[in-house]
Amino acid sequence: QKAQIGVTGLATMGRNLARNIARHGYVTAVHNRSDAKTKALVEEFGHEGTFVPGYTSQEFVDSLESPRTIIVMVKAGPATDAVIEELAPLLSEGDIVVDAGNAHFADTRRREAALRERGVHFAGVGVSGGEEGALLGPSIMPGGSEHAYAKLGPIFADIAVSVDGTPCSTHVGPDGAGHFVKMVHNGIEYADMQLIAEAYDLLRHGLGRTPKQLAEVFTSWNEGDLESFLIEITARVLDKDDPTQEGTPLVDVILDEAEQKGTGRWTVQTALDLGTPVSGIAEAVFARALSGHAEQRKAAQGVLPGPAAGAEGTGGFVAEADAEAFVDDVRAALYASKVVAYAQGFDMIRAGSTEYGWGVDPGAMATIWRGGCIIRAKFLDRIKDAYANQPDLPSLLLDPYFADAVAKGQEAWRRVVTHSVQAGIPAPGFSSALAYYDALRRDRSSAALIQGLRDLFGAHTYKRTDRAGDFHVDWSGDGTESQG
Ligand code: 6PG
Repeated sequence: QKAQIGVTGLATMGRNLARNIARHGYVTAVHNRSDAKTKALVEEFGHEGTFVPGYTSQEFVDSLESPRTIIVMVKAGPATDAVIEELAPLLSEGDIVVDAGNAHFADTRRREAALRERGVHFAGVGVSGGEEGALLGPSIMPGGSEHAYAKLGPIFADIAVSVDGTPCSTHVGPDGAGHFVKMVHNGIEYADMQLIAEAYDLLRHGLGRTPKQLAEVFTSWNEGDLESFLIEITARVLDKDDPTQEGTPLVDVILDEAEQKGTGRWTVQTALDLGTPVSGIAEAVFARALSGHAEQRKAAQGVLPGPAAGAEGTGGFVAEADAEAFVDDVRAALYASKVVAYAQGFDMIRAGSTEYGWGVDPGAMATIWRGGCIIRAKFLDRIKDAYANQPDLPSLLLDPYFADAVAKGQEAWRRVVTHSVQAGIPAPGFSSALAYYDALRRDRSSAALIQGLRDLFGAHTYKRTDRAGDFHVDWSGDGTESQG
């Protein structure tokens, strides 16, 4: 019996994806660089579906019906190139190769073009949801040709999670579009987690709440506008005691240096090229980087002064009587900052789509992020509605629902940022989101002065508000203005 689809790369994500596919009735060929993982998968989970093990690339490729569909699930970067190089000579025209890892979209564009020359369809597909999602239903962001999608779409719709009967998978666009959108998804994931961490920090060290108390706060937040997977698991992590020391919160023994595999950094690097301000994501990436500079942080501890004693700590800067109101302010600030982070992320998706001619539908991305993925959240329904109501929405912040939600929370947001500054508790995500909001809504920006400075030191010229053209002042001469 020939297999309908194959998966190569059987580490946790690949193994779970293969099991998910087989559980949906597809005869699934499985292959791994080392045989042990292939054998283990068939032995342990063979009863879940029909697996066809392949112990060499040739065996694997030969076990597939033609035209072949092969999912590659290996580490992004050189490992992916190595697998493709090994498979490519064994493939035939019309075969489809799917890269379901977290590849950089530029690599996907390069690989797609190279395989297209050989008549092979290469589809870069974003898969989110971690180990559990891969097995039980991830959110899938498929890029690649229409032709590839015609074959892949129904399989992905089967294995993806569904929300309100709609599968969390849709064709994102050609070549690198799927991986680009997955990259921005991860960038938003970074921003979201940074904001949650800031909320925790303010309530823990500004208000003196214990992790257990905060687990309850996050659980209650998960019943409102903030309802999301990340808020839900925040409560779980905060509630957890150190398994080796009962009574000690786990969060207190976890080293406070955040790691990153690269997708957040790529998002910011790409945003710089596209000229899209994703300040929320950038703050999150930089905050992780700073957390990792342990030596530098250690050198600064006890040397650089903070606010006057008593400003920080239990009841230090928020009187106990105002504590509940402050908790609610932090919730509002978190929500408003989150809306900004998503607004920026969606702006970036639109900018990337325009730059590369992908035709990505932002509302469709909100739709497939409602379930399965790490940033799944109730409010993605609202984002979906926002783009349905106005497909060319200039900013998510201008959708009436979000504009109103942020307007209602903005005073609280300002109070929280003020408190964080006064208490010396860094909240770069909250404060930079607020600065973005204020910069966006003002009628005149301070950039007029920047333009003036550029003209003075470099004759870079400026535009005027009242006349068309480029203007320059003869700064070192008679001070007259000329038009270029
Ligand atoms: C997902 C996650 C997944 C992975 C991140 C973690 O959507 O399922 O985003 O892709 O957990 O890449 O990224 P960092 O290690 O960079 O935090």
